Amino acid sequence: MKTQVGIVGAGPAGLMLGHLLHRAGIESVILENRSQDYVIDRVRAGVLEQGTVDLMRDSDVGDRLAREGMRHEGIYIAFDGTRHRIDMAGLTGGRAITIYGQHEVVKDLMAARAASGRPLFFEVSQVAVEDFETRPRIRFRHDGGEHEVACDIIAGCDGSHGICRPSMPAAHVQWYEREYPFAWLGILASAAPSSDELVYSLHDRGFALFSMRSMSVTRLYLQVAPDESIDDWSDDRIWTELMVRLRTDDGWEPNVGAIVQKGITPMRSCVAEPMRYGRLFLAGDAAHVVPPTGAKGLNLAMADVRRLATAIETFYATGSDALLDEYSARGLKRTWRAQRFSWWMTSMLHRHDTGNPFDHRRQLAELEYLVGSTAAMTSLAENYVGTPFD
Ligand code: FAD
Ligand code: PHB
Repeated sequence: MKTQVGIVGAGPAGLMLGHLLHRAGIESVILENRSQDYVIDRVRAGVLEQGTVDLMRDSDVGDRLAREGMRHEGIYIAFDGTRHRIDMAGLTGGRAITIYGQHEVVKDLMAARAASGRPLFFEVSQVAVEDFETRPRIRFRHDGGEHEVACDIIAGCDGSHGICRPSMPAAHVQWYEREYPFAWLGILASAAPSSDELVYSLHDRGFALFSMRSMSVTRLYLQVAPDESIDDWSDDRIWTELMVRLRTDDGWEPNVGAIVQKGITPMRSCVAEPMRYGRLFLAGDAAHVVPPTGAKGLNLAMADVRRLATAIETFYATGSDALLDEYSARGLKRTWRAQRFSWWMTSMLHRHDTGNPFDHRRQLAELEYLVGSTAAMTSLAENYVGTPFD
């Protein structure tokens, strides 16, 4: 098989890249090691920055998002029994976020891929990327046979456990990593959201987050230990803990409903520098992972592939490598900005078991300062709604 761009991974990054390239008349082959159902059902992000919404709309995959996405102009920060609203739109000249599940984004992009007639192989195995300094090739197994794709460019969109980044020569890539001493237990519940906007809460017992997916589905998270087993968390235990951490003195609390999905995710910050080796380009979680507290992962992935698609388009239109050469340095600026913000939100809002009560008091002082200072709230709001994609 031969194509222009070989894309490894059919998450949001790989699918959006394939879509943007198709619109520019550029061929691609997408390879995904999971099944289509698995990729669609995976429950993950929910917060889209304006840049992501604009990209979906401008590339004609935003109709359902425009109808079903929920525009939020503020968020709540809760501590000491009180919710404090941060008026993001008011503080950023009208910018906002949109709540729309990552699996909905993936569904819309898969429909666009199917309509394009371009190849997307699910359930491939033994994927290997080779010769990306000269004549890139991807080898893989599918339906019991061995296959090879020869391409001009390989896009590594295979997430944080993929094979593309580890295939780059170790001496060429600097890998920055930080693990956090906690994880998130996330649930989806069939319950109408009891607040119009998200609530990020720091309680003595740890962090909790109230979010949503629709007018009938609530998404909730609890800070837990990284080695916690989901089997130890009965539905009753989850609801009891959520109520304790989220209920505020004005009587607000989440509505309870049947838990339809639950899972535990560890938290890490990682960055690969540079995001490129030869004709292999990394995008999305393959290049960087942020802790979810800043809601930046999916949005960073979308910013990457928009930049990469433009660079590839320019390469084919003019023969110039100039934008491909800038791809990594420009992406890393945005990545480190998102890393700093996500680390800060995570540190401020999670319980740190240092054994020293000083740390919790200091956190409360920081939160008091945040909700009392227009300058501090503006800084949070600016970063949370995201800067325009460049
Ligand atoms: P992925 O979605 O990981 O896709 C990579 C794809 O590659 C997968 O389909 C995988 O199966 C496939 N793959 C892996 N290895 C191979 C291989 N060898 N061959 C072929 N295919 C392969 N981000 C936000 O912006 N906002 C949020 O609110 C938010 N909340 C989150 C909440 C949670 C609980 C979690 C876990 C994440 C959250 N994120 C959030 C992060 C976001 O989900 C990720 O950043 C996003 O999925 C990245 O997309 P991606 O396409 O780069 O990677
Ligand atoms: C979500 O709705 O899944 C969500 C919201 C905000 C975050 C992370 C996840 O910071």
